[in-house]
Amino acid sequence: MGMNAPSLIIAPSMLACDFSRSGEEIASIAESGAQWVHLDVMDGRFVPNISFGPKFIADLRSHSDLPFDAHLMIDKPERYIDQFVDAGCDYITIHAEASLHLHRTLSLIVDRGAKAGLSLIPSAPVSSIDEVLEYVDLVLVMSVNPGFGGQSLIPSTLRKIEELVAIRKKRNLTFLISVDGGVNLNTVGEVVACGADVVVAGSAFFNAPDRSRFVEAMHQVTWR
Ligand code: DX5
Ligand code: ZN
Repeated sequence: MGMNAPSLIIAPSMLACDFSRSGEEIASIAESGAQWVHLDVMDGRFVPNISFGPKFIADLRSHSDLPFDAHLMIDKPERYIDQFVDAGCDYITIHAEASLHLHRTLSLIVDRGAKAGLSLIPSAPVSSIDEVLEYVDLVLVMSVNPGFGGQSLIPSTLRKIEELVAIRKKRNLTFLISVDGGVNLNTVGEVVACGADVVVAGSAFFNAPDRSRFVEAMHQVTWR
């Protein structure tokens, strides 16, 4: 990347990888130049799909030095924070809609030394997390309905990125803004122009013929 290349963080989602080769697949993330590993945990209750749990993540931990960005699409995530911290997750993102006592659950994550993330489904307004924004390290804007990879980005969700950028500036906060769902070479330009710091890419990364070229192209599209 050039000197002025943006510091865009690309986080491929392991949901889209070949689970039978997950060790090699996770190694390909670092080899491609992408910086984080996005881990989509799904319980079949908060979302209509089931993916994997703490043991899968713990087994992957020794196969990558990259930050593990866990996205918990599970009901009452407060029950599992310890297990995901012990599995080696660096970021633990919960859904605002899945935990009644958000401040307490976010505190559980921070008290264990992990970084706390908070995610909003497409229908949830930024105002619904206003009271806890000062406690989070990352806000994950869902640009698809959670549960599956390979969906198309919902354009109306992008205005939340701009809203979060404005709030962060006004309140002098420092959370990262991540966007998750339907991010690819066609959509990443607008996503980053709106102010995203991190983009998750599942199918676009793992279906790319050349993953390094894909990562390079994602940076070139967003280079400004
Ligand atoms: C959806 C997950 C996303 C998804 C991204 O519920 O949170 O991380 O796996 O996959 P793509 O990039 O294919 O939309
Ligand atoms: Zn995700």
